Amino acid sequence: MSVVYLNGDYLPADQAKVSVNDRGFLFGDGVYEVTPAYRGLLFRWAQHVARMRKGLAALGIDYDAAALEAVKQGLLARNGLDDVPVAYVYVQVTRGIAPRTHAFPNPPVPPSVYGFANQYVRPAREVWERGYSAITVPDQRWALAEIKAIALLPNCLAQQAAVDAGVSDAIFVRDGIALEGSHNNLFAVFDGVVTTAPKSNYILHGVTRDLLIELARELGLPVEERAIPVAELYSADEVFFTGTTTEVRPSVEVDGRKIGDGRVGPVARGLFDAFLRVTAG
Ligand code: PDD
Repeated sequence: MSVVYLNGDYLPADQAKVSVNDRGFLFGDGVYEVTPAYRGLLFRWAQHVARMRKGLAALGIDYDAAALEAVKQGLLARNGLDDVPVAYVYVQVTRGIAPRTHAFPNPPVPPSVYGFANQYVRPAREVWERGYSAITVPDQRWALAEIKAIALLPNCLAQQAAVDAGVSDAIFVRDGIALEGSHNNLFAVFDGVVTTAPKSNYILHGVTRDLLIELARELGLPVEERAIPVAELYSADEVFFTGTTTEVRPSVEVDGRKIGDGRVGPVARGLFDAFLRVTAG
């Protein structure tokens, strides 16, 4: 039985109980973070906590996210994940418990804090080398996608559409522009240029996205942050996704159309190898 964190206590998952009046339960009123830990060390925690602080501020939830570092380490230790190659630690903060009315409780109530940790088993390299597939879906999310809000219904619908189509990823398209995946950022390679959507309110500003841009520059690859029309995406030499739970995942097919020569390309492979080196170190 995994040990979870709830409002100051570590306890077995089946003993953790949340109020029916929690605004996370009623309204999806909260934010979350998923942080990777490699051999027990949180990776790029500073970037994750900075994003959470921004989300809390945007929603007007008064909570000091600095406290979450100890929670994350506590979850790793209590679940025996200190020494596994890769683990993910999830934490969410909701506005707290109050009778259901849309406006915020006044005076404010204490936020509810919940966390859990899981081991991640990376897919075998042979599987990765075969490549994955994706579909595009209309982006039906709100226009504040840069907030890592726990309300993820459009993302769930998008990912279920991918599962129903027998593919790995779903790409959100707004006004003809391919923005990002249901739970990861999107990259495409055109004539050697590593291309991804610019940071805006329409995408989550992924920590892995930033890392991949840094790694691409270190490898001497040109990087362009610009809008990618879907029609252009189909003609990319390579397409790949990045994210905490995705790492680097190449797509060799989008909407049933072959990307490049239909095989995993050298840019995705080189960046994944660089990613593996950095996270192993
Ligand atoms: N998802 N875009 C979206 C919509 C996401 O939900 C995520 C992360 C990313 C990648 O962000 P990062 O590189 O910081 O993990 C991009 C998390 C992992 C999730 O919902 O489980």
